[in-house]
Amino acid sequence: MYKIDSYSPVRVIFGPGRLEDLATIKLPGKKALICVTGDQIMSKLGIQQRVIDLLKKNNVEAAVFDGVVPNPTRASVMEATNAAKKNGCDFFLGLGGGSSIDTAKAAAIMTKNPGDLWDYATFGTGGKKVVTDANPVVSITTTAGTGTECDPWCVITNEETKEKLDFGVEAVYPAISVIDPTLMMSLPKDLTAFQGLDALFHAVENYICNKGESKLVELYAKEAIQLLTKWLPLAVADGNNLEARTNVAYAACVLEGFNQALTFVTSHHIIGQCLGGLFPKFPHGATLVTTAEAYYKEIKKYVPEVFDELGSFMGEDEVAGDPGQSYINGLVKLMDTCGVRDVGMSKFGVDPAKFPEAVDIIVDIVGIDMDRYELSKQDILRILETSYR
Ligand SMILES: [Fe+2]
Repeated sequence: MYKIDSYSPVRVIFGPGRLEDLATIKLPGKKALICVTGDQIMSKLGIQQRVIDLLKKNNVEAAVFDGVVPNPTRASVMEATNAAKKNGCDFFLGLGGGSSIDTAKAAAIMTKNPGDLWDYATFGTGGKKVVTDANPVVSITTTAGTGTECDPWCVITNEETKEKLDFGVEAVYPAISVIDPTLMMSLPKDLTAFQGLDALFHAVENYICNKGESKLVELYAKEAIQLLTKWLPLAVADGNNLEARTNVAYAACVLEGFNQALTFVTSHHIIGQCLGGLFPKFPHGATLVTTAEAYYKEIKKYVPEVFDELGSFMGEDEVAGDPGQSYINGLVKLMDTCGVRDVGMSKFGVDPAKFPEAVDIIVDIVGIDMDRYELSKQDILRILETSYR
């Protein structure tokens, strides 16, 4: 029968122009550490100064930490932690994409807990120590993909073990998430596509992982898949299409943010995260896109009826004599329309000689026990080798 286990303490402020609410809403502290990437993109776009000015109107001070790195590392999180302590900040503000928000979340753990960040990682070689407290986090996203805005996860890479692990820590649910699609208009086409497809895979993987148990998961995933199928190609084609940006942001940040607090992803994400850990220049969405076709062709035989449901959400008809193929057809069409189906891993510095090492990390260290099917090491190696170009 139905099973629901739902909890969300996130105040979501969603809609075009809602960044301005930062001047008037009740914030969770008096001084923010604004976490941004070192490429200064938030500063160049004028968003960083807007945020500082709005905080000032709200009588809140700010300091800036601009050492966030893509695929954030344990070392960069500790730098953010030290910056917060040095500047006397009592809350974190992640500004930008998933890397900035996840750095803010992980640093918020370390300002309130002793020891090493890895003591608190909830998978792999992590110490799985319980986190009882964290400084509050405000997220202001300028991308639509990760869903970290509304979930309790942060994903950090351990430079030594090469693991890129999820921390599932209730204390780091953002207190407030501002999701303003006008901040996403300047995102380039390829990143719009990669991040939007990341959100699609969250929905697909959540739907598969849920095994039909939670009606909420089904509801959120179905709506997200339908919206992304319709609106993502339009957002990629014209980044200034605010209606498209708004629908993609709603699917990626709100629906799939809430959904990831309810259930898990599958080994598709574990494979993608492992590639991101081994090859730091490989954007998360691209790790998923480049492995998607081979991965889903491999698992179609295990869950064909689920695939045909997913295909129907994407507007595809079932294929006579080929159960499950409708989802593959919908996926291929969407990646094609978004112009990323033929993107190769080699473009991101991937060395195929490291695939056996990747497989060992995926299966032996991180683990793929969340799957409802069993992939062997040989299966995963084949998926990686088939995907490489
Ligand atoms: Fe993801």
